Amino acid sequence: MKIFLDTAEISQIRSLNELGIIDGVTTNPSIIAKSGRKFQDVIAEICSIVEGPVSAEVIATTRNEMLTEALELVKIAANVCIKLPTTLEGIHTCNALSNKGIMVNMTLCFSAQQALLVAKAGASFVSPFIGRLDDIGHDGLSLIAEIREIYNNYEFQTEILAASARNSYHFTQCAKIGADVITIPPSLVESFIKHPLTDKGLEIFANDWKLTQK
Ligand code: G3P
Repeated sequence: MKIFLDTAEISQIRSLNELGIIDGVTTNPSIIAKSGRKFQDVIAEICSIVEGPVSAEVIATTRNEMLTEALELVKIAANVCIKLPTTLEGIHTCNALSNKGIMVNMTLCFSAQQALLVAKAGASFVSPFIGRLDDIGHDGLSLIAEIREIYNNYEFQTEILAASARNSYHFTQCAKIGADVITIPPSLVESFIKHPLTDKGLEIFANDWKLTQK
């Protein structure tokens, strides 16, 4: 499973990328707003750090405006992936961009039907939101499993990018289901690295080593 960072925090992207475990980055207007910097500058800097796809979301809502905005964003770097909402206008724009060979990530996907349609429109990624479905009493992980089954049935090339993942259970279950990608905040990646038994074991080994030096 590929791991994308769901953030625009440059220092965290840089340090986790150095571990060789990061395959891309996803952003949205809310995430970039937190940086207090110009949208295009942040995307350019992230693209210069990470080799994989960097999702940059359009804010236009009509097909012509979305296309214009997307064609500007792809000029920033070769690894920009255009993030579009899963709406009628978004799917139209997805089709137009994928016909030009431009990577598209269809976001705010909440049903298997939406996922099937965006795959047909040539999306490189579909982003089903796990946590937000859980929030309203649905089962976000079941949606990931449903999409996996459908995509396998028809050999769609669209990658399932599990989004709005909030905890270690979401992470491991997505890997078991076979999500192609998961996007998570840097804090979650960092929390997975640490385990109290690793720390305790290290302490025991260090103490025992001292005994061998007497
Ligand atoms: O990847 C989408 C993510 O930014 C949304 O996460 O936790 O706001 O539902 P959340």
